[in-house]
Amino acid sequence: CGIIGVLAKDRPAAPLLMDGLRRLEYRGYDSAGVATVSAGFLDRRRAAGKLAALADVLGTAPLPGTSGIGHTRWATHGCPTEANAHPHRAGSVCVVHNGIIENYRTLREELTSRGAHFESDTDTEVIAILCADMLRRGLCEEDAAAGTIARLEGTYALCFLFETAPDLLICARRGSPLVIGLGDGETFVGSDAIALAPLTNRICYLEEGDWAVVSRTDMRVHDSHGNPVTRRVQVIALDHLIADKGQHRHFMAKEIHEQPTVLARALGAWTSSDRNRITSDAEHIDWSAVSRLSIVACGTAYLAGHVAKIWLEQIARLPVELEIASEFRYREPPLPRDGVTMVISQSGETADTLAALRYAKAQGQQTLGLVNVTTSTIAREADVVLPIHAGPEIGVASTKAFTAQLMCIALLAFMIARKRGVIGPDAETTAIDVLSTIPRILSEVLAQENDFAALAAQISDATSVLFLGRGMMYPLALEGALKLKEITYIHAEGYAAGEIKHGPIALVDEHTPIIALAPSGPLLEKSLSNLREVIARNGRVAIIGDAAACQVFGNEAWHCLAIPHVDPLVAPFAYAVAIQFLAYHTALCRGTDVDQPRNLAKSVTVE
Ligand code: G6P
Repeated sequence: CGIIGVLAKDRPAAPLLMDGLRRLEYRGYDSAGVATVSAGFLDRRRAAGKLAALADVLGTAPLPGTSGIGHTRWATHGCPTEANAHPHRAGSVCVVHNGIIENYRTLREELTSRGAHFESDTDTEVIAILCADMLRRGLCEEDAAAGTIARLEGTYALCFLFETAPDLLICARRGSPLVIGLGDGETFVGSDAIALAPLTNRICYLEEGDWAVVSRTDMRVHDSHGNPVTRRVQVIALDHLIADKGQHRHFMAKEIHEQPTVLARALGAWTSSDRNRITSDAEHIDWSAVSRLSIVACGTAYLAGHVAKIWLEQIARLPVELEIASEFRYREPPLPRDGVTMVISQSGETADTLAALRYAKAQGQQTLGLVNVTTSTIAREADVVLPIHAGPEIGVASTKAFTAQLMCIALLAFMIARKRGVIGPDAETTAIDVLSTIPRILSEVLAQENDFAALAAQISDATSVLFLGRGMMYPLALEGALKLKEITYIHAEGYAAGEIKHGPIALVDEHTPIIALAPSGPLLEKSLSNLREVIARNGRVAIIGDAAACQVFGNEAWHCLAIPHVDPLVAPFAYAVAIQFLAYHTALCRGTDVDQPRNLAKSVTVE
């Protein structure tokens, strides 16, 4: 979910709130709302569905006033209806909230027994009702908000707006990030600095447990014990965070096509100017003394971690443990003192990944954060920040951030290999040379877009699709299935090709397209035998491979789509573009919302 708050000078708040919400849509977009105060009158507008629905409501019923709060939601408690949309109101107070109030049931029962009436199914409404209850009992706005916050258990970023105090916002964070932006006689609150990018570049990050009283000219921050504290105001360069679609129909298309540029940029940033040596802040770790690297992430970033495990173990001979963040954090694994934990996150805000990072730190591990957004919470909390330089990624389905993660991971693997004495300087230079070919090779694959569109048209009416791959193509098969599921809503599964005979082969029939990722290499023969097992059972196999693989299967396969023959180190990048195109064009055939698929959020900031 995304939060914005505005105390504007001489200009209406509602358009600023809407603009901020547009920047926050990556955090969820199943319902939205804004509230403002004008002439002593608090009012709100809310709508289920995307922001356009709220814009329509505001078009017919505008909200005056220079003070306001807004919210875009990714539903946790309660369906994405208008009644459940934020801001939630009770009496003279409105609140927007991101996170989960764990003791909401107790609070709700307590308030109901005192006669309170609830209009929504959300946990957030208890915050508004509790605060209104305290106001009614004679507390001032600040004491009522502080008293309310003190009763909350769970995670929250929240912002209060009061009918009786139009020059005031009170905000708080615990477990979900929140920033305050200082303008010229104006003040803003946002879930992240990107939301405030066009409004101000003077940003104060609240720390865990902080709450703040914000006016147009001032802010007073308190720590979790209520003690006044000073938090640093930083000037942040945000211009580059403002993104548009260029000539493309969708952000996802733009981001797929940007990959040659993005990967060249990442490679440049991670190597010395003579391209002989990999440079990274991770060099300061004594890798020869590290016994194990734990990699933790969610979604596509987790699949980048899967590739990382293979490369780091093969190239750097470093044992790697890989885990999904939501499992890792609750499993409470013992972590060796001489181990390092690396979290991977495009946004740097994913709640489970952040919790995993904090767990690893608490266990005394050194921590690395491989992130795209360098102003994010994970970037600020990890011991070493490793930026992937992908630029803003807006499409919910991750594309360029995934391949940029892979580029940085490949470089990290060779750098660690050098530090562990596994490879010499020549191997490092050779690796950089091979990785330097990626932008050109991706341009060649991008030029084959029509071939992928044709294959996509063939699978667009399927109800289920299987992706198969071996070795490095196994995580790519998983990512191919994930991309397809995310944006086309077709059921898809990724399997290690060698595993299919142990169960999934039962799914094979003439209706289920099977996408086999089969580049040339030592595993090609093995993959081909697995595919023959499938073809022998009337499976419709489409091979995405290089010319050699396609030649072998010329007549047997349902389709063969040949992409350039590439070095094994380059293969994950080339095949990533292939599966991205396949998902994108299938979504176009099915007419789904490519950039904002149903039920998803770009960054899931609740656990
Ligand atoms: C959400 C997105 C996924 C993304 C995952 C992890 O579920 O829909 O595309 O891979 O979060 O996000 P992160 O920002 O931590 O990489």
